[in-house]
Amino acid sequence: MRKPIIAGNWKMNKTVSEAIELCRNLERAVHDSDVEVVVCPPFTALSALCALGMKKVKLGAQNMSNMEKGAFTGEVSVVMLQDVCCNYVIIGHSERRQIFNETDQLINQKAHLALKYGLKPIICVGETLVQRRANETEKVVINQIKAAFHEIPQDRAVNVVVAYEPIWAIGTGETASAEEANSVIGTIRKTLAQIYDSKTANQMRIQYGGSVKPENIKELMAQPEIDGALVGGASLNAEDFSAIVHYNE
Ligand code: 13P
Repeated sequence: MRKPIIAGNWKMNKTVSEAIELCRNLERAVHDSDVEVVVCPPFTALSALCALGMKKVKLGAQNMSNMEKGAFTGEVSVVMLQDVCCNYVIIGHSERRQIFNETDQLINQKAHLALKYGLKPIICVGETLVQRRANETEKVVINQIKAAFHEIPQDRAVNVVVAYEPIWAIGTGETASAEEANSVIGTIRKTLAQIYDSKTANQMRIQYGGSVKPENIKELMAQPEIDGALVGGASLNAEDFSAIVHYNE
């Protein structure tokens, strides 16, 4: 059985004091859940949240450098993230791919580096609206998965979480239907089974992301292939995010 994982991607939101308040409320609200709960705040809040010593809520970063250390002004390294209690790091979010021109190759380098240091990547894939209308969803997602996992060995691949986030569903209020999301995620799992084997693919967790809310999480989680969610807007307040974590009640 795959343990469900629900992660909040706060994007460029929350000051340090706002982040502390949200995490204190969240830790209280989700402490009894069986779901793995992760929040990915901005870099600036990580140190203070690490100091809270949360037991239930795990920390992740929203990005990291593909370089280990050195003269890379403005970058944040994998070791720095571990130093502030991060267990996870989001890699290749569509906003980074689209706005900051991150390539499949860069995303693959980041995934290798995170895994080398034992940080678990949440690798994002997903199609644009144009690609969806051209019936290219499967092709796009398969190619992104193959590129992201290039030369990642099987024993490390099991530590990767994949997030399927159709770009047209992010921040728009539109969600892929639960069946559609399940079908694309099934394709992702088949691709992972081709790269590795079905035992490995069946161990790996694949999330859905894109306008996940307390109102639609239950239906999404009822799908056999969907192992969790990567939540943007609705992760910014403790009430909504804890309602999402408690989808089963
Ligand atoms: P929304 O939940 O705000 O649509 O954002 C999804 C997302 O991009 C999470 O990484």
